[in-house]
Amino acid sequence: MTQEVLLYPDRQALVEAALALVVERILTAVNERQTCTIALSGGSTPQPLYAALAHADLPWQQIQIFWGDERYVPATHPDSNYGMTKRVWLDLVPIPAANIHPMPTDFAQPQLAAEDYERQIVADFGLEAGSIPIFDIILLGMGDDGHTASLFPHTAALSVVDRLITTGDKDGQPRLTFTFPLINTAHSVIFLISGMSKQPALAEIFAPTGDAAAYPARGVKPQGELLWLLDADAGAKLAIDK
Ligand code: 6PG
Repeated sequence: MTQEVLLYPDRQALVEAALALVVERILTAVNERQTCTIALSGGSTPQPLYAALAHADLPWQQIQIFWGDERYVPATHPDSNYGMTKRVWLDLVPIPAANIHPMPTDFAQPQLAAEDYERQIVADFGLEAGSIPIFDIILLGMGDDGHTASLFPHTAALSVVDRLITTGDKDGQPRLTFTFPLINTAHSVIFLISGMSKQPALAEIFAPTGDAAAYPARGVKPQGELLWLLDADAGAKLAIDK
């Protein structure tokens, strides 16, 4: 794993840098492998990035879009990560519908949806069951508590190592999430983190030792590259070479 922490003066600069990095990595993947598989994070931080990607000149036919986690609500629900991304980005670009792979949220139980998405991903990558797909890009955010995707502190999801997708829960709202084995197999994992409220968790995550159960983002150690894109508010307490 190669890791790099990149600090930006404000959220706008963070988004502009993220746009350039994501576009570059999409084009590299398509040039090298004729396709790019990207898993998106939810929440508010990436939304301006997604809106900016709607204006990017990209080989949409060769881009496959997945989600790294999802709230277990219909796509029309205001909390839906898929619904947000569709509204600000995917409805505005000529990407084939078959290239968009939302997490299913219409099974009676979230566990059944997790199992279905796992089957879908393995099939979409043309792999045998039991294989771990290698995503070109996985975008992640981080909560104030140090969670990432829907891998929340001190939850069973953190220990799932024999599945690609599992379930979680946030304040009673069921979630679907990539597991660490799937995240950590990626070519490139990019965190986008903005705001002062993230400072305490980042300090714990960048501490030489710490508890990954308490701060799950510590568990993200991809075999490829790990980029942390932080604005100054989020990264102020980190001793980063300026
Ligand atoms: C989600 C996410 C989650 C998010 C963090 C940060 O579905 O909410 O994927 O992991 O990235 O909670 O959210 P903000 O970007 O809104 O701070």
